Amino acid sequence: MGELKIPKKTYQATILENYALRLPGKLSNYLIRLRFDEKIICNPGQFFKFNVEPTREQEKPRLITVNEENETSQMSDSKAGVDFAVQQPLIARPFSIGHAEVQENTTILTFIYKIFGAGSLHISKLQQGETIKVLGPLGGNLFYLPKGKTRAIMVAGGVGFPPLTFLADSLLKKSIDSIDLFVGATSSLGLPLPKNLSQQLRSNTLSDLSPIFRVIADPKVNFGIATDDGSEGHPGLVTDLFERALADSDPEKTMIYTCGPWPMMAKVARIAGEHGLNCQACLEEMMGCGIGACQSCVVRIKSNSEQGWNYQLVCRDGPVFDADDVLWEK
Ligand SMILES: Cc1cc2nc3c(=O)[nH]c(=O)nc-3n(C[C@H](O)[C@H](O)[C@H](O)COP(=O)(O)OP(=O)(O)OC[C@H]3O[C@@H](n4cnc5c(N)ncnc54)[C@H](O)[C@@H]3O)c2cc1C
Ligand code: FES
Repeated sequence: MGELKIPKKTYQATILENYALRLPGKLSNYLIRLRFDEKIICNPGQFFKFNVEPTREQEKPRLITVNEENETSQMSDSKAGVDFAVQQPLIARPFSIGHAEVQENTTILTFIYKIFGAGSLHISKLQQGETIKVLGPLGGNLFYLPKGKTRAIMVAGGVGFPPLTFLADSLLKKSIDSIDLFVGATSSLGLPLPKNLSQQLRSNTLSDLSPIFRVIADPKVNFGIATDDGSEGHPGLVTDLFERALADSDPEKTMIYTCGPWPMMAKVARIAGEHGLNCQACLEEMMGCGIGACQSCVVRIKSNSEQGWNYQLVCRDGPVFDADDVLWEK
C-alpha cells in the first residue's frame, strides 16, 4: 500500500476559522482551518493529533458537563441533550486532514470534526486567531490509486468524509476519469456539509464554499448524499448509492475507498469483495499516543500466522488498510 515516511513534528498552528457547519452543539460537525508558517507535505489518509489540554487560565482542569456549558444538541440522535461529565482530557485527539493548501512558506489545512466528548468540545470553543498545538502529519500507510484504475468510488459515513475529500482533490490533480463521492449520515444535521451547499451548487457561487467542499462541484465528480431518515438526499443508507453506482463498474478500472463507522466500512468491503473490486479502508479506531508506542489502536489484520491474523496498529501501520485484509467481525 502507500507507505510513506514523512517527518512529523509538533506545530503551533493559527486558527483561521472554526465554526459549526449546521447547528452548533453536541454531535454537530465543525470545520476548522489551521495555518502553519511553513511548508508541510501531507497526503490523503494522514491525520494530526490536536492538543486538547486547556491552555487558558479559565479552562484549567475541572469537571465539566456539556449541558452546564449550554451545549445541548438540537439533533434527533438519542444521545442528544444528555448530560455527561468528563474530566478535562489530556491525550491529544486525532483528526484526518480534509484539505491542504501548500505553499512555499505556508500550509493551510482544513479538518471537519464532530463533537463527541470533552476533547472535541474544547476544540469547538477555540476562536479565530488563537493557536493550537498539533502533532503530525501522522499515519504510515495511506490511500493510493493502483496502476490502471481510472474510476474511484468513495463511500463516507459522517466525519469519515474529510479524508475522502482530500483524496478526491488529490486524484483530480492526477489521471482519474471519474469519482463517485457519497456521504451518508443518520439525518441531515449530521451531514459534514454546509447547510447552504445545494443553494451554492445551484447558483454556482463556489468561491463562497470552503475549499474542502469544492471537489463536490468538479465536473468529474458525481456527488451523492444519503440520510437514514430521508431528511436530505437519498432516503436510506449510503451503501444503497454505492451499490447503485456499481451497476456499471469495471473491476479492472474501478477502485473503492471508504471511511466512516466500522459497520458501514465492513459492508462496503463485503460488497466490493463480492464484485471483485479492490477497496481501501481508512480506519479511525480510538487512539492514545498516535505514534506506535501505547498499543491502544490495534486491529486484526489477516496474516500467515497460526491463527490467521496479527494485530496491527492503526496509527503506525494504517490508518489505511486493504479492506480485504481487515477482519471485520469484531
Ligand atoms: C486516524 C483518526 C482520524 C480521525 N479523524 C476524524 C475526523 O476527521 N473527524 C472527526 O470528527 N473524528 C475523527 N476521528 C475520531 C476522533 O478522533 C474522536 O471522535 C475524538 O478523539 C473524540 O474525542 P472527544 O474527547 O471529543 O471524545 P471522547 O470523550 O474521547 O469520546 C466520546 C465518545 O466517543 C467514543 N470515541 C472516541 N474516539 C472514538 C473513535 N475514534 N471511534 C469510535 N468512538 C470513539 C468514546 O468511546 C466515547 O464514547 C478520527 C480518529 C482517528 C483514529
Ligand atoms: S495510538 Fe498508541 S500505538 Fe497507536
